[in-house]
Amino acid sequence: MAFTIAIDGPAAAGKGTVGRQLAAHFGYAHLDTGLLYRATGRRMLNGEGAVEAAMNLRPEDLGAPDLRTPEVGQAASRVAAIPEVREALIDFQRAFATRAGGAVLDGRDIGTVICPDADVKLYVTAGDEVRAARRLAELTSTGHDIDFQTVLADLRQRDARDSARADAPLKPAEDAILLDTSQLTIDEAVATAIAEVERVQAARAPG
Ligand code: CDP
Ligand code: CDP
Repeated sequence: MAFTIAIDGPAAAGKGTVGRQLAAHFGYAHLDTGLLYRATGRRMLNGEGAVEAAMNLRPEDLGAPDLRTPEVGQAASRVAAIPEVREALIDFQRAFATRAGGAVLDGRDIGTVICPDADVKLYVTAGDEVRAARRLAELTSTGHDIDFQTVLADLRQRDARDSARADAPLKPAEDAILLDTSQLTIDEAVATAIAEVERVQAARAPG
């Protein structure tokens, strides 16, 4: 049976971490949809047109090096505001979401546009300085020489652009469960998310 979990929220809130661990816990597949936009942005930085890049995206593009950097993040956020780019990526995401066996997708518009009928919707947030500190630690530990202010400016600029765009803006779905991870460890955030999913599944169980 298909069971879909939609996770949205601002940059570096912990969407991917929660999504990955939820998927592992329930035996579902996980898709970090931000990678689709980052890979498209990377191809644009390499000189390709944004729409063409999205239409020609290949699985190996999602494994390109340095996709997590602010430079690629900014390119991702700019291509993500182009409706034809978003359109080119919809079918892949919806097919992933409805696969048998269950799926977790994280991004900005999963609960609002890609999977409006998702079984569980989570909106993961945290304060912007907390998010910047976490992303900085992640980038530093993977060998990137970058400072806190650069990371914070990238997150703030992307959140503002992602929230203001006309097509599929960043916002919680009306029926999303809010999960603020500012004061939570990863284990606590994941445990909270697992409990929410189990609550929905228990309410549906026959008998
Ligand atoms: O997917 P998204 O950009 O929302 O965030 P992420 O890449 O999952 O998380 C950003 C960083 O915050 C990662 O290095 C996580 O290990 C860390 N983190 C977290 O996700 N949740 C916490 N409660 C604490 C740290
Ligand atoms: O990991 P982080 O939260 O920093 O970013 P991401 O999830 O990898 O997304 C990078 C950019 O792609 C975002 O700033 C958005 O502009 C765009 N994006 C989007 O528009 N819709 C999605 N479903 C996922 C990402």
